Amino acid sequence: MTTNNDVVVRTEHLTKHYGKLVAVDDLNLEVHRGEVFGFLGPNGSGKSTTMCMMLGLIAPTSGNIEIFGLSVKSNLADILGKVGAVMESPGFYPYLSGWDNLKVFARISRNVTDNRMKDVLKLVDLADRAQDKFSGYSQGMKQRLAIACALLHDPEFIIFDEPTSGLDPAGMKEIRELLIRLGQEGKTIFLNSHLLHEVELVCDHVAIIKKGKMIASGAPNDLIKHGDTLQIRVTDTDKAVALLNEEDWVSSITREGDLLILKAPAKRATDISALLAQNGVFISEMKAREDSLESFFLELTEEETVD
Ligand SMILES: Nc1ncnc2c1ncn2[C@@H]1O[C@H](COP(=O)(O)OP(=O)(O)OP(=O)(O)O)[C@@H](O)[C@H]1O
Ligand SMILES: [Mg+2]
Repeated sequence: MTTNNDVVVRTEHLTKHYGKLVAVDDLNLEVHRGEVFGFLGPNGSGKSTTMCMMLGLIAPTSGNIEIFGLSVKSNLADILGKVGAVMESPGFYPYLSGWDNLKVFARISRNVTDNRMKDVLKLVDLADRAQDKFSGYSQGMKQRLAIACALLHDPEFIIFDEPTSGLDPAGMKEIRELLIRLGQEGKTIFLNSHLLHEVELVCDHVAIIKKGKMIASGAPNDLIKHGDTLQIRVTDTDKAVALLNEEDWVSSITREGDLLILKAPAKRATDISALLAQNGVFISEMKAREDSLESFFLELTEEETVD
């Protein structure tokens, strides 16, 4: 697995010290082509520092980063030609229109035609508002204009640092939908976020970091523990408990109000309903309980308060 076209970013033993503080600690990441990669961690866990090292803005204390198989240390200009970054909103001019602000950035990037600008504005859903003054834009529109700027040179790989911060739920949704759309277009996306829900909704792969160290990595669905917990509501709770207690595949039963919480393999659902029905107990509700990525994340990061 040394050179592989499928790998867009690889970090090896990436480490950054700020004096005594270890902001990024021996991080080994691999981001694959076409992936929407979520980099999830609580505040101060090293996400922005990692991103800045990828963009060559901060030099690592040790370790390496390769993007498109090239070392960031020695090939930064070539790499940046294919990379877009959405960090904090760039300095837009409030009295210029969205179009004229974009034009300022287009002049900095080479080879950006008016048609490209139009395409990009369409992509971020600002085409209709391009002639309006930036100062009249909502926060979500401002952020979408920032994304338009990052897309001008048609990057293959785009890095987002907390792109929904400061947005209301509707604005967040707009940005999430845009991220999903970019992913569907085959862009490779690296998304820094401390919001689980965001990562869960948008990403194919998640790496969780804590104090600069990667503590878990995988598809969101794999990180969510597919529990063996079933929640049922029945017509006769006491009788159901008595019946289910007889089955050795039921490992525990607890009551939560008028609900029964069973630890049993989810595939036993039909056995449960058959057993109860044969004994005159009927189920009005049955669902599998899944621990969300949130509880997983909290579990992983809670240890932090102990040490
Ligand atoms: N220039 C700097 N000098 C000293 N310490 C720094 C510097 N930049 C970041 N740090 C520290 O490094 C650690 C990681 O910071 P970083 O900004 O990478 O975290 P983050 O995961 O992006 O957090 P957030 O979710 O708050 O954006 C923090 O403890 C931070 O205080
Ligand atoms: Mg940050």
